[in-house]
Amino acid sequence: MEKTAELYQDLDRILVTKEEIADRVKKLGQTITKDYAGKAPVIICILKGASIFFADLIREIELPVTTDFMAISSYGSATKTSGVVRVLKDLDRDILGKDVIIVEDIVDSGITLSYLRKILLQRGAASLRIATLLDKPARRKVQDLKVDYVCFDIPDAFVVGYGLDYDQVYRNLPDIGVLSPRIYEP
Ligand code: IMP
Ligand code: MG
Repeated sequence: MEKTAELYQDLDRILVTKEEIADRVKKLGQTITKDYAGKAPVIICILKGASIFFADLIREIELPVTTDFMAISSYGSATKTSGVVRVLKDLDRDILGKDVIIVEDIVDSGITLSYLRKILLQRGAASLRIATLLDKPARRKVQDLKVDYVCFDIPDAFVVGYGLDYDQVYRNLPDIGVLSPRIYEP
């Protein structure tokens, strides 16, 4: 707590505690284990925001999963989406015929994921589902995006912690909190 105490001062409030996260992630792991019984899904971590969620989630899945990583950019350092999606790091292995689960930190406008879903389906995945830690349904711009697994629905506020950043800071906070607007408003 002490080493991150300073970062906590930049939060307006804590939205989801680390205990609530652990509980929900464990349950999601159990659900995926059931849904994919007899299969060996490829779990794809969307860097960097989903990395902590991904690390916790895959350890709650009792299946012979494989993992891969992808980095995309749609944000820069601002708090609003640019609408432009770029692949910064692609998958190492091909996903043809595989059952794929994309693990994302947060669905906001939905632009990033709808783009990703499209390109991964074009590569011939047998199935594709999306698991997200957080969902901000009020901000959705892409209406037909199906998000299969959601840990927490949250209100329209800019949040950080448990992997989520503002300008690369706050990812190491164990809890998820609302960043005080004084940090990003001029
Ligand atoms: P979308 O394309 O608008 O759905 O943007 C999703 C991406 O925006 C996420 O993967 C995050 O990297 C980033 N993002 C959206 N909302 C937040 C937030 O509240 N905190 C931190 N990052 C966010
Ligand atoms: Mg992200």
